[in-house]
Amino acid sequence: MSEPVDCRALFPTGDDAEAWRLASLNPMSSGLKGSSILKIAYEIRAMQDAGNSVCNLTVGDFSPAQFSVPVELREGVDAAFAEGQTNYPPSFGTPELRAAVVSMYERDLGLTYGVDSVIVGSGARPPIYATFSLVVQAGDKVMFCAPSWNNPHYVHINGAEAVKVHCGPETDFLPTRELLEGKLDGVSLICLNSPLNPTGTVFDADQLGGICDLVLEENARREARGDRPLMVMYDQVYWMLTYGDAKHVTPPGLRPEMAKYTIFVDAISKSFAATGLRVGWAVIPEPFALPFRALMGHIGAWAPKPEQLATAKLLNDPEAITRYHGTMKQGLEDRLRALHDGLQAMKAKGLPADSIAPQGAIYLTGRFDIAGRNWNGKVIATDEDVRSFLLEEAGFGIVPLAVFGPKDVVGWVRLSVGAVGLDDIAEGLARIEAALEKLD
Ligand SMILES: Cc1ncc(COP(=O)(O)O)c(C=O)c1O
Repeated sequence: MSEPVDCRALFPTGDDAEAWRLASLNPMSSGLKGSSILKIAYEIRAMQDAGNSVCNLTVGDFSPAQFSVPVELREGVDAAFAEGQTNYPPSFGTPELRAAVVSMYERDLGLTYGVDSVIVGSGARPPIYATFSLVVQAGDKVMFCAPSWNNPHYVHINGAEAVKVHCGPETDFLPTRELLEGKLDGVSLICLNSPLNPTGTVFDADQLGGICDLVLEENARREARGDRPLMVMYDQVYWMLTYGDAKHVTPPGLRPEMAKYTIFVDAISKSFAATGLRVGWAVIPEPFALPFRALMGHIGAWAPKPEQLATAKLLNDPEAITRYHGTMKQGLEDRLRALHDGLQAMKAKGLPADSIAPQGAIYLTGRFDIAGRNWNGKVIATDEDVRSFLLEEAGFGIVPLAVFGPKDVVGWVRLSVGAVGLDDIAEGLARIEAALEKLD
């Protein structure tokens, strides 16, 4: 055999590499950005590898040592493999899984759909990608709230214009009708998410109902003019994870006429600690089914067949789900409450810490009001200063809320509990208290 061709040696390098990329790829590629959260997570990994104790509250994921997937899911995947279910599933999902999603939405959300409304993908991301591709035309406006997760990337990919609505602590960082009103001109898609990544806060019926009324009024005007409607992407990947009095609500559940305008995005990733299994779906108005099927097929973003069959069995077994959540949800809530109680105890002592009580998802919103204080001979001024202080002084790994887009939130942080134990939290809180007490 002849020598292999060393392709690496043939690529342009240095400035030439950049020039070659710019000359060759779609200009859209230049503005594409990766995840800034992952960069923070790598820094923490390096600290841990160097032997430091870190309470890592950064990644929106689970440690399997803390939260495993339901046993039924694992056994279902094994059984499907053993049966040889390893060929292509239909590109928009197996009939078993699509029917199971329909049953679950009827049973648990009080929404009746046909199987043609369900489009399965490898997690929630491909359905999000498909929604943007199929609803948004280049130059359209897309409205989303700050803070929220990842919308700017999809806006960029689709050549759309972002209409970013800033939501602050007075509305638990969630949008309201009043905040969205007057900004809808030219908007073809509004992205809503509840329970919200990054804050863990949850819409109540009045808040979401008001937004639905606004959409319905806007669409009545658009339809009278013969204009394209305003669609809502409702990302509910955390909907099974609500705590205390918080109750998940949906647009069509509150205002049935919203069914025509709502595209649900959903997955097993968070509700079953199954981020690595890659099963998600969109639930869409049935007339959109053909292009959604075609696009998902062309992307090739279908979920693995054994995982789809196992998910179908699990979703059809409400008792197994209740059993699993009895442990898993309780474990999440215990961690969120431990963090909240710890921060509230510091607040009661007059330390500059605060938090919003847990409502949903795997996140708590915390606040360290330390801007203007002195640390290491310098004044804490930015989100990055707060993050470094918490990590270096207290081994407490957080993500600044500002990473998710809002302005004027120095000191506000996202605390994610899927990868830590109660011991890690207790130790981290003790270190924080000591660090805050030392601040000038
Ligand atoms: C609000 C929200 N939607 C969608 C996703 C993506 O989920 P998946 O891993 O199923 O693609 C995430 C992941 O963090 C999320 O937080």
